[in-house]
Amino acid sequence: MMTSKEDVRAFWDKAACGEKLYLDNLNVEGFRKQATTRYTLEPFIIPFADFKAAQGKRVLEIGVGLGADHQSFAEAGAVLTGVDLTSHAIEMTRRRFMKFGLKSNLNVGDAENLNFPDNSFDIVYSWGVIHHSPDTQKAVNEIFRVLKPGGRAKVMIYHRYSMVGYMLWLRYGLLAGRPFTKLATIYSRYLESPGTKAYSVADARELFRQYKMVLTNIQLGHGDLLTSQAGQRHEGTLLNAARKIWPRWVLKRLCKCYGLFMLIEAKKPPS
Ligand SMILES: C[S@@+](CC[C@H](N)C(=O)[O-])C[C@H]1O[C@@H](n2cnc3c(N)ncnc32)[C@H](O)[C@@H]1O
Repeated sequence: MMTSKEDVRAFWDKAACGEKLYLDNLNVEGFRKQATTRYTLEPFIIPFADFKAAQGKRVLEIGVGLGADHQSFAEAGAVLTGVDLTSHAIEMTRRRFMKFGLKSNLNVGDAENLNFPDNSFDIVYSWGVIHHSPDTQKAVNEIFRVLKPGGRAKVMIYHRYSMVGYMLWLRYGLLAGRPFTKLATIYSRYLESPGTKAYSVADARELFRQYKMVLTNIQLGHGDLLTSQAGQRHEGTLLNAARKIWPRWVLKRLCKCYGLFMLIEAKKPPS
């Protein structure tokens, strides 16, 4: 059954990503601490986003959430626009920008129907967003449309064959007596917002087929390595026990390609 966008909006309206776990105060200190935690848990965001290279460029971020990456783009001197499906995320990011005296054109908006003319942006950035939207292909096509010729999309979507996926399958498939449950069903029902999808590298290349150059890079995340709270929905004795015995060094050495995060950089052909 296809999830509606209203279900997705309702889920993220309750709390933006990381809000419950990592944001304890809506002041400068609170936002700073949340950003530090974010970049400690997901250090690969910094080289991937390449904030400094965005100086003077027209950047659109889709799905700003709490606004930490948006802030990094603003501080690097990008000419910024940001959208999110929920008014809650936009309010949080506006508040953050007000506290730090930063500027961005922030509005509620839908990745599948971007309210911008064709060829508007040098960079479109989106971290962990469009796999939540019911029609991810439509979002990828919209990103293509609003990018200037030669512009770049930097997008993170979830990778299907990940430690997180296998752990959730163990918990909600095998141990729940449903060993034939597909990974797609597991992600859709148990990871984050209802209907969340995860892709193989081949699927991702197909999604981005109209782009010129498509680079993909899989990263083991804090969820795969159990170095964090594993998300706002998951806790319990089993998880706490697993955290104690998790063979992190083995995973880092031998299972690098089983990470949840698929980082995609794709270029729109120059006209
Ligand atoms: C996992 S959070 C990621 C937020 C932020 N990028 C981050 O990394 O913390 C997913 C975000 O995507 C937003 N979102 C989901 N579907 C969307 C859509 N169709 N258009 C715009 N934003 C969407 C949600 O409202 C939510 O803020």
